Amino acid sequence: MSDETIEVLLEEGKVFPPPEDFKKQAWVKDDTIYEKAEKDFEGFWATFAEELHWFKKWDRVLEWDPPWAKWFINGKINVSYNCLDRHIQTFRKNKAAIIWEGEPGDIKIYTYWDLYREVCKFANVLKGLGVKKGDRVAIYMPMVPELPIAMLACTRIGAPHSIVFGGFSPASLRDRIIDAEAKILITTDGGWRRGKVVALKENADEALRETPSIEHVIVVKRTENDIPFKKGRDLWWHELMKDASSVCEAEPMDAEDILYILYTSGTTAKPKGVVHTTGGYLTGVYATTKWVFDLKEEDTFWCTADIGWVTGHSYIVYGPLALGTTSVMFEGAPDYPDKDRFWGIVEKYGVTVFYTAPTAIRAFMQWGKKYPEMHDLSTLRLLGSVGEPINPAAWMWYYETIGKSTCPIVDTWWQTETGMILITPLPGVTTLKPGSATKPFPSLKADVVDEKGTPVPPGGGGYLVMKTPWPAMLRTLYKDPDRYVKTYWDRYGKEIYFPGDGAKKDMDGYIWILGRVDDVMNVSGHRISTMEVESALVDHPAVAEAAVVARPHDVKGQGIMAFVILKGEQSASSELEADLKKHVGTVIGPIARPDWIVFTEDLPKTRSGKIMRRLLKDIAEGKELGDTTTLRDSSIVEKIKDSVK
Ligand code: WTA
Repeated sequence: MSDETIEVLLEEGKVFPPPEDFKKQAWVKDDTIYEKAEKDFEGFWATFAEELHWFKKWDRVLEWDPPWAKWFINGKINVSYNCLDRHIQTFRKNKAAIIWEGEPGDIKIYTYWDLYREVCKFANVLKGLGVKKGDRVAIYMPMVPELPIAMLACTRIGAPHSIVFGGFSPASLRDRIIDAEAKILITTDGGWRRGKVVALKENADEALRETPSIEHVIVVKRTENDIPFKKGRDLWWHELMKDASSVCEAEPMDAEDILYILYTSGTTAKPKGVVHTTGGYLTGVYATTKWVFDLKEEDTFWCTADIGWVTGHSYIVYGPLALGTTSVMFEGAPDYPDKDRFWGIVEKYGVTVFYTAPTAIRAFMQWGKKYPEMHDLSTLRLLGSVGEPINPAAWMWYYETIGKSTCPIVDTWWQTETGMILITPLPGVTTLKPGSATKPFPSLKADVVDEKGTPVPPGGGGYLVMKTPWPAMLRTLYKDPDRYVKTYWDRYGKEIYFPGDGAKKDMDGYIWILGRVDDVMNVSGHRISTMEVESALVDHPAVAEAAVVARPHDVKGQGIMAFVILKGEQSASSELEADLKKHVGTVIGPIARPDWIVFTEDLPKTRSGKIMRRLLKDIAEGKELGDTTTLRDSSIVEKIKDSVK
């Protein structure tokens, strides 16, 4: 979003205070909570932790030895116990925990009791295969119910899971399995995507050629297509489950034991293994699910993310289930078989709180009002947005067309690393401004600072920082503590978290997130590193060199533009262009496929040979070119500029 857009909006004074009737029923209706929470930081978080079940209470809430944090010291807790056992002892026993709809339209509803039994059974299956507390389990699955069952079973026995998004390539899966040294891989025979089968098992097999740590592969039958099956190594989920006992005690875990690892893109080609631990993470997602989404016993919550990303971990599975909510889970795409699929689901299950991404909202806008108008959306009472800055036009469309101008919108800023929502409105107290994620969650401090770390004055722009720790924060990067310190806690001193986002602070202290300031792109809300795409491109036999930047894209937010130098004997052609796009899709996954390829003879480089990506970004964005005086050959940028349409 440009500064001008923000200015215009502010001048128009478009603000949305919470509707009176929403406020009346909200968990938080009094904004003095911000002051109270700041005054008693630890007490504030302890209150949420006390709403969970602990086998043994913590001695202290926080030990902060920057940048190393420990939360709920010596507390013993189990995530699966909190998501299941706690509820089956109450009237929630046969309340729907997960309402699942498959892409072909098949439906499964798991009550808390059903889910508890399935999880216990699968936990016993894992134990039977020799999985012990601390062993890593890799998961590569589409959005099927066995996915949350597997996650909860892992947490039940204390085996950290590492979920790899089903859209990732064999190479991406392989690298993540190798880094985590996973013992078991759980996958499916396939997944449904717009009526076609995605060949997950074949991908997995390819990855598994180079992953010696994997002892067994557990395969869920989903699409029933023929798949290769390696005797001894590969086992069917349904056969293992047939005789498994449905009694399995939850393992008391230390609050600081690893709950899961989730890999995310950084500024190098090697993904970072973000480590989340148990007690603080659960407390953080529990608190934010409850207050940000204002969830009550009778709500039906639908977060449309894929569980392969952090949003699904925290707000389809752990947060909603810890709260005893009914969580909707959908396998398919929003436009299959038609563009009203999401709205049909909202109507069918009476969804009350709906959480999606700006890229989806922009696609809905393009498709037109006709589709939401085909369905009764009157059960909705609150809407959410996550993953990238939401442009005010999309915000207004979401507000009017989906929320019928009655539902507040919570624009929630957070990251894989933060584990939980950090900057967000509280729907019962915050006056909303379309396009602003507003303010930090109570007790937390965020700011916008300049290069030196000095807070910018109201109205200024700079880098977003967090100035307090928070319970669901990442604890380290798996097997790479130095990179943890360097990436997040080095820029402004060890007490200040640097998330890599640019932001602006307005005259009321509201925060407007402007997007990444590092070499990470945000394509349809997915983080992709420019280096990853570059190394996939140079991996193609025709490519000598490549530089990749993000370029504004109407639906995706950012698209990928690649500048490619071909090897001597190669010449540019539309076939080669298509082949390069396909190649990147194969190496990383379809989400990383470049939108535009620009063949060029040279790249803007400094005298020392460093590519000046900043200039390529200016070209891609159609901006005035920045300083070109340090270039080895300054004519090259003009040449490239001419070839970019
Ligand atoms: C971006 C997704 C603006 C941001 C939960 C961040 C946002 C990255 C918002 C994290 C938002 C997320 N407004 N930008 N409400 N939410 N982002 O790790 O650039 O996949 O750094 O976590 O998404 O992406 P990740």
